Amino acid sequence: NYYAILMAGGVGSRFWPVSTAMCPKQFQDVLGVGETLVQSTFRRLSQLIPRENIYILTNKNYSDIVKEQLPGVKQEQIVLEPVMRNTAPSILLAAMKIKQKNKDAVMMVAPSDHWIQGEQQFVEDLEFAFEEAAEDDKLITLGITPSFPNTGYGYIKYDDTEEKRMMPVQAFTEKPNFKKAEAFLREGNYVWNAGIFIWNANAILQNFEKLLPEMYRLFEKGNAAWNTEKEQEFLDENYPLANKISIDYGIIEKAENVHMIPASFKWNDLGTWGSLQEQLPQDDNGNTLINARFLSFEAEGNIIRTEKNKVVVIEGLKDYIVLENEQVLLIMPKKNEQNIKEIRDKAMEKF
Ligand code: GDD
Ligand code: MG
Repeated sequence: NYYAILMAGGVGSRFWPVSTAMCPKQFQDVLGVGETLVQSTFRRLSQLIPRENIYILTNKNYSDIVKEQLPGVKQEQIVLEPVMRNTAPSILLAAMKIKQKNKDAVMMVAPSDHWIQGEQQFVEDLEFAFEEAAEDDKLITLGITPSFPNTGYGYIKYDDTEEKRMMPVQAFTEKPNFKKAEAFLREGNYVWNAGIFIWNANAILQNFEKLLPEMYRLFEKGNAAWNTEKEQEFLDENYPLANKISIDYGIIEKAENVHMIPASFKWNDLGTWGSLQEQLPQDDNGNTLINARFLSFEAEGNIIRTEKNKVVVIEGLKDYIVLENEQVLLIMPKKNEQNIKEIRDKAMEKF
């Protein structure tokens, strides 16, 4: 009864120039570990979910990349979105497809762009979550102990009166502003949303019907098309009509009966290079090297990544990122990395 949907439709613009529109970060070996993020995610999921029950949801443009990177996966497991509509529409259509295959299905939503360490703990947390979600209609999310007021995450306020492996969620706030995030951290009973959800297909469909009724009705028309050769045609026609909204804003913030299981594995959402560096090996001077050989005379705190294990010689550079792809070489101070989207847009305009 276990299913997973692997979300692989994002564009990962903050990881430019390693991540590009042609090949976003989930399809890259960002960390130089020998497999791409999608491949790691699929491998991790297959430890607990039958491979044929793992669906990959992505944009039409990435169809060939997915097939190439996950050669064992059948065509019918790859769901191709004609346009980007954020996560709510893709999760809704996947839940409908899965429910039609198996009315008792329990499914998890797995982002494809995360770094996770402690696969055994990951599997154990999820086994527990799946058992809970099979029992009744609740929505389960995994929580991460927050370390700073990051405004790019969802914040979960949980009921900590009883210490249990799973706790009721009192409020969910997606991407709060900095002041709010700071206040949440001071209060204490808040965790970050890992973006990994577990529920039975029925429970999430009921929530969509109630909270995003228009979207629900749009996709309901596809009931005769799911899992048939008509499906793609239906999606091409109707998917673009769906509202652009994430599952977090559209459902989780408003739903009742949300629960949180604290994650017992190490997690990083690969949001920025700086946040990632904490978890990667560093040399004696705090430099992180990915796919690169390095010669430095005086350099500290830098992040350096090349495509083909180049020798990088650096003299007198502190706290910079040095990144390349085939066309672009980017050198900028780490402290400016929040501006990377604008910098990329400007660069794209010129060239
Ligand atoms: N198939 C598909 N289609 N996948 C998508 C789409 C889409 O249109 N848009 C995004 N995704 C995928 C991304 O590739 C990623 O794996 C996942 O869905 C989450 O999307 P993000 O765009 O990365 O979301 P976020 O990082 O801003 O926020 C979410 O994740 C945080 C943790 O990393 C939220 O769930 C936050 O609450 C959470 O804290
Ligand atoms: Mg993300």
